[in-house]
Amino acid sequence: MTMASSAPAKTILFGEHAVVYGEPAIAIPLPNIRTYAEIFPSGEDFRIYSKNTDLNSTYNELDSASGIKKLLDILRDEFTLSYLPSAALQIKSDIPIASGLGSGAALSVAIIREFAQYFQKTLSNERINEIAFEIEKIYHGFPSGIDNTTITYETPIFFSKPDGFRRLTADISKLPLLIIDSGIRSETVNVVSNVKKNYEKNKTFIEEIGSLVKTAEKELIKGDLKEIGKLMYENQHLLTQINVSCKELDQYISIAKQNGALGSKLTGAGRGGNFLVLAEDLEHAVRLKNIYENLELRVFL
Ligand code: PMV
Repeated sequence: MTMASSAPAKTILFGEHAVVYGEPAIAIPLPNIRTYAEIFPSGEDFRIYSKNTDLNSTYNELDSASGIKKLLDILRDEFTLSYLPSAALQIKSDIPIASGLGSGAALSVAIIREFAQYFQKTLSNERINEIAFEIEKIYHGFPSGIDNTTITYETPIFFSKPDGFRRLTADISKLPLLIIDSGIRSETVNVVSNVKKNYEKNKTFIEEIGSLVKTAEKELIKGDLKEIGKLMYENQHLLTQINVSCKELDQYISIAKQNGALGSKLTGAGRGGNFLVLAEDLEHAVRLKNIYENLELRVFL
């Protein structure tokens, strides 16, 4: 798919869930893990299909409550299209679904960019981000906006709901960080609504996560790997308190600890999905990668 439009995955380094309640969080794009969208003329009714899911539907066959349908309707309005063209929209994604890496937001952003390209319109990143956020409401129920923002701007960000985002000044490109897929799928909307239901009980932990994120930004700027790792373990502990981890993640994170990782935590919604492991250096990262691959987990380095 050479002419396709695309969007990256993202990972939240610190602050997931608390960010929904106005606390800050830090996220980075993962440019090597992407979703691609390509429209090509077909001579038939507009059809959308995805190689990764079983989706293969015409526009009229789409579930009217689905994110894709809502997105196509917004795009029709945006580009004043009275009907969709005789064309096929093909989706291909390297991002695992329901795994904390922002697959839903990446899908939206890739499709929006491809529509703009196909209809030769210019859309600002600000508008792309706004549209993607509308669809996140379907995928997350109660989104903070951090996924669509990191993915639209494709840059590391410090984000909070009240203040928006700013680009992170810390150089995170050299972090010896592994992203590992537990293989357990978990829908963001369920985890987010559970945290919301128990908000009163979770409130203090949520605030503690918020202040930890501010410290984490300082340590990321300093590049102090030991301190960054310590904060990752602390963030994980707080996420456990709000009940978004699970026994498998707890186990994988203790394997990281036993093997000298500086830090480890879940990333994204939790209850499965991906987790992060911070190694001492690249050589250590390769050793840790082998350990998880021997457990048949998919490791992104
Ligand atoms: O699991 P993901 O990639 O959908 O990330 C969710 C992040 C949350 O903080 C849990 C929700 C949000 O909208 O910020």
